[in-house]
Amino acid sequence: MWRLRALRAPTPSVSCSLLPCGACLRRKHVERDVGDLLIAQHHHPVLVEGIGDLFELLVGHARRDIHTHPELAFQETRTAGIVAAELTRLGLAPRTGVGRTGVVAEIKGGRPGPVLAIRADMDALPIHEETALPFASEIAGQMHACGHDIHTSTLLGVAAVLKDLAPQLAGTVRLIFQPAEEVLEGAAAMIADGAADGVDMAIGFHNHPDMPVGSFGYVRGACLAASDRFDLIIQGKSGHAAHPYAAIDPIVAAAAFVQEAQTVVSREIKPLHPAVVTIGQFVGGTTYNIIPERVHLKGTVRTLHHESRDIAEAALRRLAEGIGVSMRVKTEMTYVRKVPPLVNDDKVLDPVIAAVRRQMGDVISEGEASMGAEDFAEFAARAPSFQLRIGSGQPGRDDRLHNAFYQPDERSIGLGVQALSRAALDLLA
Ligand code: NI
Repeated sequence: MWRLRALRAPTPSVSCSLLPCGACLRRKHVERDVGDLLIAQHHHPVLVEGIGDLFELLVGHARRDIHTHPELAFQETRTAGIVAAELTRLGLAPRTGVGRTGVVAEIKGGRPGPVLAIRADMDALPIHEETALPFASEIAGQMHACGHDIHTSTLLGVAAVLKDLAPQLAGTVRLIFQPAEEVLEGAAAMIADGAADGVDMAIGFHNHPDMPVGSFGYVRGACLAASDRFDLIIQGKSGHAAHPYAAIDPIVAAAAFVQEAQTVVSREIKPLHPAVVTIGQFVGGTTYNIIPERVHLKGTVRTLHHESRDIAEAALRRLAEGIGVSMRVKTEMTYVRKVPPLVNDDKVLDPVIAAVRRQMGDVISEGEASMGAEDFAEFAARAPSFQLRIGSGQPGRDDRLHNAFYQPDERSIGLGVQALSRAALDLLA
């Protein structure tokens, strides 16, 4: 069972209106009250607040431990060890090494039914933390600046709740702790190792500092973009800057390509289908008076629709070839499709929204799609899925993801546990 000895004692500020503070540290009260809450069919804000804080105690320690020891993509061995140990303590049988450093465990319900996957990501970013928090990263140049420590802890909390309530479930909950989301490769690696086999529906989630803690969000249809990338080598012929006629200038050709690439969005893709083409790197040349041999461009392409994704790739390849003809350079395009758009399915989205409302009241609202990407899309491409947005903005702060000062509100863990646990109970009712 959960390691309560690792918890901080509750402070007077912790609101435990229905849970006397002394009881917070006793597992049987935790079990009983969490169970009562989750099987309650009506909104009870006081209890919700108490449970949110309780889960901060329950799960916050795991979060802070993981936060202090962030690990980059496919290096999440310590984190996976914590996850596997906690799942084992809960009486589950986690499988490690799935997709290199991922962990999978299943909670089998009391009755047969579909398989619901709930996925959290575990990896950190190559950012040097500057929060000065007492539990800040101890690893120079690495930080949980996207809140994947929050996600991992939240899913551990869901595991604890649903393990207790398993007899009520008609079906199986598959808990997926995924590595390497930030490089958009962990989901594919886990799927290659069977993590999505037999999954009938899936829920992903992400913390949102742009939404206040306590709020939740959703987007109907495509919510995050396909993320593709390309490298374009433009090979010219080097020479003296004073004699361009005797050379072939790849810089002018590359500049023309950068301009033309902007016409993909403005002239080739439907205006009602969002798309972005960004050239993020332009490398070529050494000094004032030399026309270089080659230029190397790197770009990213984001699209919300499969059709636009195809159009953009075809257009960029064609424009690169065209530059070759018109500017006499040789071009070599390497185009890599990373992840598809993340498309929410109403079959999962609607029941989850209803579950969040039933659990916590009118706290979930519709948001806008983002041109960011997330490889939960790989799971969503294989089974009806929904990505839940969980507000993590601290009152009085204006945090952003991937920022060295990022401080999500830890109460989002307990609130996320409630939302996801209730959703699982309803989807497997
Ligand atoms: Ni993230």
